[in-house]
Amino acid sequence: MTLKPLVVGNWKMNHDYVEALHLTQQIGVVLKNKAREHVDIVVAPPFVDIRSVGSIIESERIPISLGAQNASMYDSGAHTGEVSVSMLKRLGVKSVIVGHSERRSIYGQTDEIVAATVQTVARNGLEVILCCGEGSEVRESGAHLEFVRGQLERALLGFDKKNHSLITLAYEPIWAIGTGETASSEQVAEMMSYLQAFLGERGMSETRVLYGGSVNGENAGALVTDGRAGGFLVGGASLKVESFMAIIEAVDDCYSRSR
Ligand code: 13P
Repeated sequence: MTLKPLVVGNWKMNHDYVEALHLTQQIGVVLKNKAREHVDIVVAPPFVDIRSVGSIIESERIPISLGAQNASMYDSGAHTGEVSVSMLKRLGVKSVIVGHSERRSIYGQTDEIVAATVQTVARNGLEVILCCGEGSEVRESGAHLEFVRGQLERALLGFDKKNHSLITLAYEPIWAIGTGETASSEQVAEMMSYLQAFLGERGMSETRVLYGGSVNGENAGALVTDGRAGGFLVGGASLKVESFMAIIEAVDDCYSRSR
């Protein structure tokens, strides 16, 4: 079975709620004129935008789903500044990005926090978009496959097997994030087959594996066909309707041709 590809727009700390509403409406207009049946679409706005973006998605019946960029590993209580998974769920959030390299490197998110957050998200029935990826030093040393395996093994430690269907992986090499230096199709294909084997060993072969790192409308097609990416986690190019839709269109084209 071929899994339907997924394109996730990670808006990071961009767009206040007015800008977020505008972008969501623009996406809605494009999708109304031409539906993309071969691709699932998620947008992950900043927390403060989620309510209004969710309302527009619902009222305009836009065929995209709502994601969050992070969540607390705790369920509730004295955790100043944190947002719980159940609060996100109440707002209609369906998936949560966990372990993004920016959270790991800038906000001290350790492997233990990543693992606990993965479990909290899944326990609440939401999908987990679990990020992994090596820095340039690891890539240059040739240890990128083992590095990523280690990250995933630690992130999935103690994970309840019955929730496996809630996991999506996102391979985002740090050197490719926001740099314009996209990984080549060969580099992506190598990692994709390695991760498929890793997932196969765990009985998780029906898991989507995304690529992220300077994806745009020009390179998306090749990253799917030659790189065998199961979709994308998109940063910069998800902030404007034209560039985000160009990626979605490229993915949709690849999959509609393959049928
Ligand atoms: P860019 O697409 O801006 O490189 O960001 C990738 C990313 O980090 C998405 O989570």
